[in-house]
Amino acid sequence: MGGQGSKLDKMKAGAGEKASHRKKYLPQTNGSSPAVNGMSPDNSCPSIEEQQVELPSFTERQKELVTDTWRVVQEDMAKVGVVIFIKLFETHPEVQNVFMPFRGQSQETLRESAQLKSHALRVMGTVDKCISRFQEPDKVKEMLHELGARHVIYNAKVDYMDLIGPQFIWAIEPVLGDRWTPEVEQAWSDLFKFVSYIMKDAMNF
Ligand code: HEM
Repeated sequence: MGGQGSKLDKMKAGAGEKASHRKKYLPQTNGSSPAVNGMSPDNSCPSIEEQQVELPSFTERQKELVTDTWRVVQEDMAKVGVVIFIKLFETHPEVQNVFMPFRGQSQETLRESAQLKSHALRVMGTVDKCISRFQEPDKVKEMLHELGARHVIYNAKVDYMDLIGPQFIWAIEPVLGDRWTPEVEQAWSDLFKFVSYIMKDAMNF
């Protein structure tokens, strides 16, 4: 049985592969965020009701795919979470500065940072809550809305929220190995679009 180390190795090794497959979901590196669910990158997003971006529109098949693959990702949750944020800080250094203690810190220091691991685990914990409450979409929306509102206090910018999903997808693809399919990728992409949409909606007020 492959241990955690081997999965992480695969995660790192996979980083340079299948680039074209991943490209469509990777964040742009020019500082502007991609349009998500019909929203323009200038953050002028219509209300949730107008956009019809609702968790129930997530198909039963997509729920199944995300739930099944999440069980695999969960085994390496902390490592995947740290990889996501290290990569995010590399491509978008301005996001690193939101976390006061991270300012000016090297990647090596951040890899060992308890606070980075803690936030990464909190993001993963939120993903877990979304998945375990698939049948209670109103509760999920309320939870994400409150979380988004708190991120205004943390000084996180609205645009940053769209960056997490693509990084998450980039990090889990090598962990999932043969289980990875375009359908799985789409399901995770749709879940993160939903998460960031609700959080952003709360941040815009
Ligand atoms: C790049 C985007 C983000 C930035 C810059 C950011 C920043 C922060 C900061 C500065 C804190 C407070 C200090 C800390 O806990 O380390 C925090 C807390 C937290 N973040 Fe984020 N965050 C981002 C995205 C997310 C996302 C997408 C989620 C969940 C899906 C999330 C979940 C949490 C949670 C659960 C907490 C704990 C405190 C609370 O519940 O309010 N964050 N975040």
